[in-house]
Amino acid sequence: MRVLVTGAAGQIGYALVPMIARGVMLGADQPVILHMLDIPPAAEALNGVVATTDVVEACTGVNVAVMVGGFPRKEGMERKDVMSKNVSIYKAQASALEAHAAPNCKVLVVANPANTNALILKEFAPSIPERNVTCLTRLDHNRALGQISERLNVQVCDVKNVIIWGNHSSTQYPDVNHATVKTSSGEKPVRELVADDEWLNGEFITTVQQRGAAIIKARKLSSALSAASSACDHIRDWVLGTAEGTFVSMGVYSDGSYGVPAGLIYSFPVTCSGGEWKIVQGLPIDELSRKKMDATAQELSEEKALAYSCLE
Ligand code: NAD
Ligand code: LMR
Repeated sequence: MRVLVTGAAGQIGYALVPMIARGVMLGADQPVILHMLDIPPAAEALNGVVATTDVVEACTGVNVAVMVGGFPRKEGMERKDVMSKNVSIYKAQASALEAHAAPNCKVLVVANPANTNALILKEFAPSIPERNVTCLTRLDHNRALGQISERLNVQVCDVKNVIIWGNHSSTQYPDVNHATVKTSSGEKPVRELVADDEWLNGEFITTVQQRGAAIIKARKLSSALSAASSACDHIRDWVLGTAEGTFVSMGVYSDGSYGVPAGLIYSFPVTCSGGEWKIVQGLPIDELSRKKMDATAQELSEEKALAYSCLE
C-alpha cells in the first residue's frame, strides 16, 4: 500500500513516519511505500525524512493519505487564526488527491482545524467518496480512555466505548455513558465504577477538552507522539476493523444520525469492518449529552461558514 504523509518534516510527521514503516498503522505483514511531502522552506528538515516537495508526485497512486501538513496552533493563537492559513492548503491538496490518488484512497486529516479542513478537502474533491474523508478525534478518544484508566487505576486497554462527539476542539463532548471497564467479574459501566457524576460531568470533560491546549502551554508545541500514535490507531481500525463489541471515535461526514446536521464532519462512535466505518446507531442520548452535542455541532457550522469566507 502507498501511504502519503503531508507535513512529513514536522513534529507529528517525524514521529509518524517510522511508526508506519514499522507496521503500527497497517500491520506488520503489510508492505508499505511511503510518500512524504513537505514544502520547500522545510528543505533542511526534508533531508532528514522527506522524499518530495512536489504535491503531484506525493499524491500519485496513494491508498492512504494522512494529511498532517499545515500550520500548528501556537501558544496564544485561537483556532480561528489557524483556519485561514490551513483551509486554502486543503482546498489545493483536495484537487491533487482527486486527480492523482488511487481509487478508493482513504483520507485522514490531522492538521487543525481538523474537521473543517477535512470538510473543505471533501467539498473540493467531489469525486472522492464522502465516506473516504475523515478527521482525527482518536487522540481525544485515547485521552478520555486515559483519564478513566487513571481514575480507576486500571489498564487503559480494559476501558472501552467512550465517545468523542463533534469537533476536535474545546467544544468536543467526551461521553462516558456507554463506556465500560473489563473487571474480574465481567464488564461494568464506567458510571457505576467511578460513582462520581460530578467528576464525570465536570472535570473529566474539561480535562479532555483542554488537553491539547494544556500540552501547548507546557511544551510550547502541540502534541506530536500521541497524535502520531492516534493517527495509526485510526487508520489501523478503519482498514483492519474494530474488535467485536468495541467502538471508536472518528470524525466522519454526518448523514444526520443523532440529529447532527448533515454536511458537517463530526466525530461519532463508529465500528469498522471490511475497510468501511459505520456509525453506531440507537444509543440513548440524555439531556446533558444532547445539549453538548448540539453546542459542538453549532461550532462546526460556524467554522464551516468562516472557512468559506476565508476562501473567498
Ligand atoms: P509542524 O509545524 O511541526 O509540522 C507541519 C509541517 O507541515 C511542517 O513541516 C510544514 O513545513 C508542513 N507544511 C506546511 N504547509 C504544507 C503544505 N502545503 N504541504 C505539505 N506540508 C506542509 O506541526 P505538527 O506539530 O506536526 O502539527 C501538524 C498539524 O496537526 C497542525 O495543524 C496541528 O495543529 C495538528 N494537530 C492535530 C491533532 C489532532 O488530534 N487532530 C493533534 C496534534 C496536532
Ligand atoms: C491537540 O489536540 O493536541 C492539538 O490538536 C492541539 C491543538 O491545537 O489544540
